[in-house]
Amino acid sequence: LADEQMTDAEILADPVEKIAAVGGTRHPGIPLPKDLFGPERKNSEGIDLNDRAILAKVAHQVSFVPSEVEGRSRGRISTSLDTNDEGGVAQGFVARALSAYPAWEAAGVDHRAACLDRLADLLEQERDALMRIAVQEAKKTIPDALGEVREAVDFCRYYAQQARDHLQPLELPGPTGERNLLRMEGRGAWVCIAPWNFPLAIFLGQVAAALVTGNTVVAKPAPQTPEIAAYAVGLAHSAGIPEDALVLAIGGPEMGAALTADPRIAGVAFTGSTATAKRIARTLLEDEDRPIVPLIAETGGINAMIVDSTALPEQVVQDVVTSAFRSAGQRCSALRLLVLQEEIADRTLEMLAGAMDTLVVGDPADPRTDVGPVIDQGAYDRLMTYRETQGDRWIKTVDAPRDGLFVPPTAIRLDAIEDLKREWFGPILHVTTWKAGQLEDTIRRVNRSGFGLTMGLHSRIARSADDVEQLARVGNLYVNRSMIGAIVGSQPFGGEGLSGTGPKAGGPHYLPRFCAERVTSTDT
Ligand code: SER
Repeated sequence: LADEQMTDAEILADPVEKIAAVGGTRHPGIPLPKDLFGPERKNSEGIDLNDRAILAKVAHQVSFVPSEVEGRSRGRISTSLDTNDEGGVAQGFVARALSAYPAWEAAGVDHRAACLDRLADLLEQERDALMRIAVQEAKKTIPDALGEVREAVDFCRYYAQQARDHLQPLELPGPTGERNLLRMEGRGAWVCIAPWNFPLAIFLGQVAAALVTGNTVVAKPAPQTPEIAAYAVGLAHSAGIPEDALVLAIGGPEMGAALTADPRIAGVAFTGSTATAKRIARTLLEDEDRPIVPLIAETGGINAMIVDSTALPEQVVQDVVTSAFRSAGQRCSALRLLVLQEEIADRTLEMLAGAMDTLVVGDPADPRTDVGPVIDQGAYDRLMTYRETQGDRWIKTVDAPRDGLFVPPTAIRLDAIEDLKREWFGPILHVTTWKAGQLEDTIRRVNRSGFGLTMGLHSRIARSADDVEQLARVGNLYVNRSMIGAIVGSQPFGGEGLSGTGPKAGGPHYLPRFCAERVTSTDT
């Protein structure tokens, strides 16, 4: 996932303009279907909650308190500060989260899980408003915006249930006359840093996990997507999570750096680029006196799909298009490198080109759209420049509107697996071939990138699936299906190596990493 582009100084220099800029200009002419998204929302002071400028006015700290839920006024946005003292602001946020920690921890797991269940209900009630913001702010297509809300709901409910089932005190065996009790408790104040590509689902997934395990949280959304985060935090407070137990920190990389530099924090959950994850790891270890705290990092990948000559061509093409181009390729899981067995390469590419011709690139608010714009001008410029430099290797590209941040879905030929050296976070697919009999070697070469997030295999030979399962060094392997859209509780998501630390989000081992494990052994 690409690094954040703007510094906090830039964001603060002219908040109205700059926050509008990091969110990307709204795609012109997005008249969102009124029947889907409902009427414009106004707060009690008559402010249109869809107006990005309100966030700019509140620069760093938004305390958005929505109505108690339906049928009342939509609450108010209160602002606190307007400063460029990142360190001081960050310390203030951490201090607030620390002050709320003892009571939140003491409230117990059942209370905290009930808050998450209530938050899930509120997210469902507010689905249309959240989808509207996801379309406008994050430029999600309508199916992706719906998926975003559903995944956020799933994270809240899943972690609530996991916490109730697995975080209760556990009696452990011991010799007669001894009682051993294992408790899973919160560690303190966590910093959660979320990406713009899942500005609600990953944002709330991190937050929900940290909160339900008894921690308090300072949550920093990506600078491109503060509005949906502010809305979600408001709903979380309405669901009973105390305001200081979940503090919203709007800012860019400098805010992130200041938060992670605070030695009082108990851990960091981060989703973003590998480079930023490493920077955070260094910060956490920098100071000799600082406690050693966990870092949960989920980063990117050079995700490959290997296809052999037994694969079902129609299924391959459909899954390639979905995995590489849906969500404009802006998923960590997205397919970046298609590796076709030589014998079927020409035919598959011909069919792929035909399928790409049917892609509708355009207004994300139009329900017919398959591929919307990319997130911001910086991403657009990087992707378009790269695409141009590869012009003589294009296998296929498609039409896209010129008035907006639309990167045309493009397939590019590579001579070898090793030629793809970095993740291009957009609708750009690289294609190369492998020779029959060299499956093992092909997998090893894919592994050698050092990333280990997703991999796909299309084959009807059971033995090949077994080999790939044994050899692939990835967190999520997808066989004879698409490689995106991991489902909470069914496909725990996250990688290894340069792709992250684990544990996997939406899986049964995620919550314990947020906990302090404490054992009391008593001689009875
Ligand atoms: N969890 C997302 C997916 O599976 C990617 O971040 O597509």
